Amino acid sequence: MQKQKVVEVSGLYAAFEHEVVLKDVSFTANKGEVTVILGGSGSGKTTLFRHLLSLYPVKRGSVRVLGKDVTTLREVEQVELYHQMGVFYQSGALLNSLTVAENVALPLAQHSDLPAELIDEIVYMKLGLVNLSHAFHLYPSQLSGGMLKRAALARAIVMDPPLLFCDEPGAGLDPVSLEALDRLILNLKNKLGMSIILVTHEVSSIMRVANRVVFLDKGVVAFEGQLVEALHSDHPAVQEFFSVMKSDSMKELLK
Ligand SMILES: Nc1ncnc2c1ncn2[C@@H]1O[C@H](COP(=O)(O)OP(=O)(O)O)[C@@H](O)[C@H]1O
Ligand SMILES: [Mg+2]
Repeated sequence: MQKQKVVEVSGLYAAFEHEVVLKDVSFTANKGEVTVILGGSGSGKTTLFRHLLSLYPVKRGSVRVLGKDVTTLREVEQVELYHQMGVFYQSGALLNSLTVAENVALPLAQHSDLPAELIDEIVYMKLGLVNLSHAFHLYPSQLSGGMLKRAALARAIVMDPPLLFCDEPGAGLDPVSLEALDRLILNLKNKLGMSIILVTHEVSSIMRVANRVVFLDKGVVAFEGQLVEALHSDHPAVQEFFSVMKSDSMKELLK
């Protein structure tokens, strides 16, 4: 049976001034899976995300998210779709003047009419999901790097989005914190049935969480398929990436 698609991109083009970043990008992401977007630095992964999130208009090609063509949505439909997407931004910083709980509550406070006590309860539950219940009243400056990332993840899922976008969530984390974050991502998929689109370069993360891999190279998708197929791809750029990855994994094993 064909899997339901949560993201369908076809012929997407994107350019800044004279630099063409995405030439002709096409791929799909399945419901209930973790799809990892790979590609070198500057290959357009964040630009692609911004199109999926409707932060950039689609000028050429088409983008469907959760079955909706993002270019033809009326404003009210756009808002509705936006509420179904959680986002963990690359620069995903929390606001330092607010407590962790207040940061996590922000989307609910802004986009729902829920009473404050209920918002507190939801926030407490979400902090529990990322193992941060004890940080409810703390300020971001009192948290470690791994805890900050987990708090940002709690904020991204506070509205229970069926679709979660994470742009390099593990960047800068030590291996133990990274593994904890990966476990949470897998929990969101396995226990809450979320579909997750993840940009990461982290060798170990890809092996742990990816169902499907989309490899961006020179403005096009060089490879799209299951993780195991990616490991055996004959595309030179994909091979090169995974040969580094294999040797990195070996190094980790030998440590
Ligand atoms: N807002 C912008 N204005 C001009 N150029 C941009 C902008 N955003 C990204 N770029 C350029 O587009 C290319 C792809 O960037 P990006 O999508 O951030 O790549 P990645 O996330 O894969 O590292 C880079 O060369 C970057 O300099
Ligand atoms: Mg980026």
